[in-house]
Order: sequence, then structure tokens, then C-alpha cells
Amino acid sequence: MNEKFSATFLPVLETNRLFLLPWKLEYAKDMLFFASNENVVNPGGWKLITDVKKAKNRIKRYMAGSEEWAIALKSQDNFIIIGSIGMRSTIAFKEYDLCKTIGYVLAEEYWGQGLCSEAVQELIKYTFFGLKCDAIAISHHVFNTRSRRVIEKCKFKLRGIYAKSRPDDPYSKVCYIMTFDDYKNLYGISEWDYALQLILHTPILYLNERENGL
Ligand SMILES: CC(C)(COP(=O)(O)OP(=O)(O)OC[C@H]1O[C@@H](n2cnc3c(N)ncnc32)[C@H](O)[C@@H]1OP(=O)(O)O)[C@@H](O)C(=O)NCCC(=O)NCCS
Repeated sequence: MNEKFSATFLPVLETNRLFLLPWKLEYAKDMLFFASNENVVNPGGWKLITDVKKAKNRIKRYMAGSEEWAIALKSQDNFIIIGSIGMRSTIAFKEYDLCKTIGYVLAEEYWGQGLCSEAVQELIKYTFFGLKCDAIAISHHVFNTRSRRVIEKCKFKLRGIYAKSRPDDPYSKVCYIMTFDDYKNLYGISEWDYALQLILHTPILYLNERENGL
């Protein structure tokens, strides 16, 4: 693989049913599987991906520094890539020093099993415990009830409705926030849970893994 595209380090994250894996070029065909479906890409704000070359280009962009993971469904000794989830830093909310915004898409064949909520909940933990962010923002287009349900089930708080959040986007977006204090209150984190999550998500461990070439 071209050195230029060697991955920015992201940890592998795991839930009961999923792995969140840093994107690799070898997953291009898997990306094509869900990103060639307009029902997935249009509400997700992606461009349609119609061939492996375009999928590879997108993955190269991710590998060049994005915080984007392939959503992989565990299957016996292996896994199937069924979507993508990622985050970006945002300065839209001045009251938070470090705030990330999360976005996701999932293959239509796998909708309705709560898989996206499971992925988002893991990313919330990584964002708060691993990256020590103060807040997480998330938004959906007003008409995207499926995404709204994911956000509600993950217990984000409504922040407001923003008209035309981008010049090329004619639709209003509904925005939600979760602060670390919200998270602790919502999930009733005990001291034991807190310590465990720190151990599981601390970046020092990830850095050691990287140094050891894992
Ligand atoms: C949004 C999305 C990631 C949700 O993933 P998911 O794992 O199916 O989420 P859930 O299983 O929690 O289902 C969420 C809601 O979708 C709806 N839904 C579920 N299965 C569905 C199906 N087969 N067809 C249509 N809608 C369905 C339900 O309203 C459900 O809410 P409920 O649990 O209260 O019934 C997925 O629908 C998707 O990829 N959509 C296109 C991309 C997108 O909108 N991204 C978000 C941009 S903000």
C-alpha cells in the first residue's frame, strides 16, 4: 500500500454485535455494497459511490486523517462491513473547548436492528473517555426520522433547528448535544464504571498498541 495513505491511528472499538474498524483499502468492495444505494447515501449526506475506484478514493481520504470507522457486524469467526460511522471536531458551540460531531450510514439490509445506536453508544464512550471531549453534537435533516430515532434512543438533548446549515444543503437540520455531565447523569456512571471506561478507552493504551505495531 502507498505510504502516503498509511492509516492515521484510530483504535478498533467493539460492542456486543459490532467492531468499529479503521477503514482500509481492502474494504472498498464492502463500502460499495451500501454506498451505491441512494436510500443510504442521500440522507447520509454522502455522494453515491458507483465503483470500487471511487470507494477507494473515499477510503484514502479517511486514511489520510479522518476519524471514520467501518461498522463491521460480527459473524462467527469473521465480520461483515455494513456501514460507516465517524466524527469531526466542531467549533460551532463556543461554550465547549472540545466538541465532536458524529455521523453515520448503514446498509439498508441491516436497518431496524438497533445496530447504529449500538455503534453510536460506543463512539460516545470513546469520545468522552478516550478523547476527553466536553460535548458531542449530532444532527439530522428534519425529514430523517430514522436518524432522529437513533439520536433519541442514545439520549441526546435537543439543541435547536438550523436552516440551511451549508450553502449546498437546502434543508433544515435538527441539532442535538450531549455533554459529559449529561452522559454521567443519564447513564448513572458509578466510580467503578468510570474507572473501567477510562481503562478501556484511554489513548495511552492505544498509543502503546501503535508503538508495538498492533
Ligand atoms: C439512520 C440509520 C443509520 C439508522 O440505523 P438503524 O441501525 O436502522 O437504527 P435503528 O435500528 O435504531 O432504527 C431507527 C429507526 O429507523 C426506522 N426503521 C427501522 N428499520 C427500518 C426499515 N427497514 N425501513 C425503514 N425504516 C426503518 C424505525 O423508525 C426505527 O426507529 P424505532 O426503533 O423507534 O422503530 C439508517 O437508517 C441509515 O443508514 N439511514 C440512511 C443514512 C442516514 O440517514 N444517516 C444519518 C444522517 S443524519
